[in-house]
Amino acid sequence: MKLYFAPLEGFTDVLYRRVHHAVFGGVEKYFMPFISPSQSLSFTSRQQADFSPKENAGVPAVPQILAKDPNRFLDMAKLLRDAGYTEVNLNLGCPSGTVTAKGKGAGMLRDPDALARFLDAVYEKAPLPVSLKTRAGYDSPDEWPRLLELFCRYPVHEWILHPRTCREFYHGAPHRDFYRQAVEAAPFPVIYNGDLLCEADCRAFAENDPGGAGWMLGRGLLTNPALAQILQGGERLTLESLRAFHDRLYYEYLKYWPEHAAVGRMHGLMGYLLYAVDCPAPVRRALRKATTAEEYTDAAARLFAESTLLGDPRFIPPP
Ligand SMILES: Cc1cc2nc3c(=O)[nH]c(=O)nc-3n(C[C@H](O)[C@H](O)[C@H](O)COP(=O)(O)O)c2cc1C
Repeated sequence: MKLYFAPLEGFTDVLYRRVHHAVFGGVEKYFMPFISPSQSLSFTSRQQADFSPKENAGVPAVPQILAKDPNRFLDMAKLLRDAGYTEVNLNLGCPSGTVTAKGKGAGMLRDPDALARFLDAVYEKAPLPVSLKTRAGYDSPDEWPRLLELFCRYPVHEWILHPRTCREFYHGAPHRDFYRQAVEAAPFPVIYNGDLLCEADCRAFAENDPGGAGWMLGRGLLTNPALAQILQGGERLTLESLRAFHDRLYYEYLKYWPEHAAVGRMHGLMGYLLYAVDCPAPVRRALRKATTAEEYTDAAARLFAESTLLGDPRFIPPP
């Protein structure tokens, strides 16, 4: 069973990937949050660091490209190949309004003819294997059969399917029947993504849907960073391993980001990690109020001293 870490913009940056890979096992590939290349292929130093092979050394990381112009996609793919990567992922799933308004991400599913032209050009000249990360439609599940037929025409390296439409965002249940149809029809590996938010979810999924090549885990793995390791038969999460991971990541963020930004990133991560622990309300409050590194360090130390770990931590999506 292949287990992949989903790209999560704002969370799974290069520092996160490095620390996660050093502390926990079980993840075969880390998909990077998307890069949206400009025509001149110019990047900020932080963007460059995120996909620099040197910074990612030792971590099995796959770059993801968000583009609607095939030439821009291909230019970026060449740059990544020359840098040493052996696979790139195309983002056809991002549901964010700012992305789809530009006709990118899941916005590309709106016009299957234009999408076919894009994929024709990409797969004709792709300088390295191209995997896809898609949703199952834009407006309506009725679009699915046409998209399924369309994707199956291409030499897709791997197909990561989040079987909801763009409109469905993260609401309602994923269309698991669409995933089964994809596994049945696709002449290439299909990877399931969506709502595998704890170990019990994963075990139930494995029982009901044993087909497919693997799973991509997102919010569940952010909440329980040992989830992939557990599913591969490794050690369960402990408060000690959670603390080792947290402290190491925080240290890296403090080295790399200005103090307020480092604390800000830790607040974001705590939005997930707090689902893994039973933490007293005053400690939660202290964490929430921490703005300086000193305050955050104290509050985090209290969290690990005064909390207990939950048995099977589960991320609870907002209603
Ligand atoms: C905060 C956040 C950032 C995300 N960033 C990306 C991204 O850069 N590229 C992408 O393909 N998907 C992105 N996604 C979608 C996830 O990769 C994944 O498909 C989604 O979280 C569903 O999987 P899950 O239910 O296991 O979390 C993001 C999702 C979240 C919540």
